Amino acid sequence: MSPQRQAAWSTRYGFYLVALASAFSLGNLWRFPFIVDANKGASFVLLYIICSLVIGLPLVIAEMILGKAYKQSFIGAMSELGRQSKFAQKTQVWIWIGRIANASSVLLLAYYAVVSGWVLYFLMQYLFGMFRTDFTGNHKIINNLISNGGLQVALTSVHILITGIAVSKRLKVGVEKSLGWLMPLFLGLIVFLVIRSLKLPGAIPAVRFLFYPNFSQIDSGTLTSVIGHVLFTLSIGMGTITAYGSYIREDSNLTAISFRMVILDIMTSLFVGLLIFPVVFTVEKFGDSGPSLMFHALPELFNKLGLSDIVGVAFFLCLYIAALASSIALLEASVSNLVDRHNYTRKKATQVMGLISFVVAILPALSSNMLEDLKIAGNSLLLFFDTLVVNWMLPIVAACISLAVGFAMKEDLKIKLFVDPNQFESKLIFSNWQFLIKWIVPVLIILGVATNIVGFLKRI
Ligand code: PHE
Repeated sequence: MSPQRQAAWSTRYGFYLVALASAFSLGNLWRFPFIVDANKGASFVLLYIICSLVIGLPLVIAEMILGKAYKQSFIGAMSELGRQSKFAQKTQVWIWIGRIANASSVLLLAYYAVVSGWVLYFLMQYLFGMFRTDFTGNHKIINNLISNGGLQVALTSVHILITGIAVSKRLKVGVEKSLGWLMPLFLGLIVFLVIRSLKLPGAIPAVRFLFYPNFSQIDSGTLTSVIGHVLFTLSIGMGTITAYGSYIREDSNLTAISFRMVILDIMTSLFVGLLIFPVVFTVEKFGDSGPSLMFHALPELFNKLGLSDIVGVAFFLCLYIAALASSIALLEASVSNLVDRHNYTRKKATQVMGLISFVVAILPALSSNMLEDLKIAGNSLLLFFDTLVVNWMLPIVAACISLAVGFAMKEDLKIKLFVDPNQFESKLIFSNWQFLIKWIVPVLIILGVATNIVGFLKRI
């Protein structure tokens, strides 16, 4: 491990927390509600739970194994795996998979930074609102924000700057330390709000909407959306988990860590559903608001419950730090590639990738205002970026990871990394995981991508 790499995370514990936080942030709070809304509720939720366990969990383990085995960032680990396998002559293919993953992390960071900018803005509103008696956190705030392109570009640039500073090390220890107390606090706050939200008149229809599946609502696009969302929320397919795996302690239990991460992710998403949808069904005027759904619902909830602005500050502060942790992991993925494979210094790599991310982010930042009329396949630019990454790029990389780890990685290496001789059930878990990663995961993902292609061809 080069010294530059070792400096990436100040403690292993810190990286563990960052990995957890990335399974705990905008994917659950921002993306889950509007994607559930777009896919009409319960059948999507049920499929999401199943796919998290059947596709997400085996892939998290596979990415961790990649990192633990080769102790490198994603492209390095993939090409090393290629070199050691019987498909060694095709090294370029392995490197290209890594490049797609890197490109996804840059594109994802671009629109993630825009939404993180929204969170930052709400945090500031609540913070300043505490000193103003006439402050009412209603949905005008989000409407004003998304129609203001300059403000969004400014907020996005502030967010990328903070992320860049953190990645080039100066803030990292602070982010790690704050995550330690923040995540339990955040979960506690969410549970508290769920209890209050369930007392709203819209609670019963909301519970029905979330948990009473109507399978006739499933269409050809549902499987693709579910798989894409699982990959997004568990941070699979961009090499961030591989990076985590490369710092993991030799004796740590991969399956237990991965299992905890997936269960936590499912739990948070369900809580968030129970938090947001009672408000949606009570107020009924901002259904269909797409990516801004959470930003309409939360202020409405805080108002309705008569909660003070302090709750708003606490909530958006927790969410902002979680979004920052994810952004750090995303930027880290491409930065560590430049450091590992192209001999950049950490500082230079951060500057280059930060700048590229910012330039790309200008497009989604302007997508709801100046570039409002620019639609690609019927989507605004922000949603186009999201669809491109989540429904196409991540599934392609994820399918390659499952095939690579499943078929090309040496059996004895996998057993050595996975099976704990002191635990009798470990062998059994291993063989089930092998079966899923070799046969079920790639088949389901390829099916999802195929339905995507058919849907796409029908639309054009
Ligand atoms: N999983 C993160 C979320 O839920 C997003 C993310 C993806 C973060 C990939 C890092 C890497 O918000």
